[in-house]
Amino acid sequence: MSFDRSIKIAPSILSADFANFGQEIQAIEAQGADWVHVDVMDGHFVPNLTFGPPAVNAFRPHVKTVMDVHLMITPVDPYIQAYADAGADILTAHIEAGPHAHRTLQAIRAAGMKAGIALNPGTPAEAVEHLLDLTDLVCVMTVNPGFGGQKFIDMSAKIRRLREMIGDRPVHIEIDGGVDPKTAPLVAAAGADVLVAGSAVFKGGSVSNPSVYGENIHAVRAAAESALS
Ligand code: DX5
Ligand code: ZN
Repeated sequence: MSFDRSIKIAPSILSADFANFGQEIQAIEAQGADWVHVDVMDGHFVPNLTFGPPAVNAFRPHVKTVMDVHLMITPVDPYIQAYADAGADILTAHIEAGPHAHRTLQAIRAAGMKAGIALNPGTPAEAVEHLLDLTDLVCVMTVNPGFGGQKFIDMSAKIRRLREMIGDRPVHIEIDGGVDPKTAPLVAAAGADVLVAGSAVFKGGSVSNPSVYGENIHAVRAAAESALS
């Protein structure tokens, strides 16, 4: 994975057909997805339950791009090796998930993955300032995590602040929650480069009608890029 700040679209398979993940992943990649975003929820850190390591391992052979795994779980550290073994390329933990974020990020990198840190909407940018040399990605949540299809919360000021703090470091800013062609320009203009989108990508399409995924991905990307020109 080489580093670049161009706009990347990362569809969240939380909005895919849960009976058909292999084909759904193949369809979004064929239709232009840059990364595949996998939302892991534990029914404790967030009020919903999704995928454990065996499910993520089953997705792995279908992902030809980058498997971006977002852990909404606590504790994190006991599960890091299991998600490395399952084939995650990027593993993101929440800053709110425990008291020892340094240790968590170091352990993620030591297990051979890129390390991400996510912030809930209520957490200020400064909470991760001391971690920027240990991280490859900062994920700014623009909804309270737990479900797809929620209303976007404008975090533009936080994104701008993070962009300043990051400076020249090779750290991605990822936005997660309520990203669509209306909100994408706001986050791109503020400095985000990775846009997670669940409902906005899967809406109206299916594996038998995948060109809709392509149109949806294109619409989010074009809207984000229009804010940069
Ligand atoms: C929310 C998840 C998101 C979610 C985004 O807890 O982390 O990745 O699936 O879905 P949309 O794009 O529908 O808001
Ligand atoms: Zn997510």
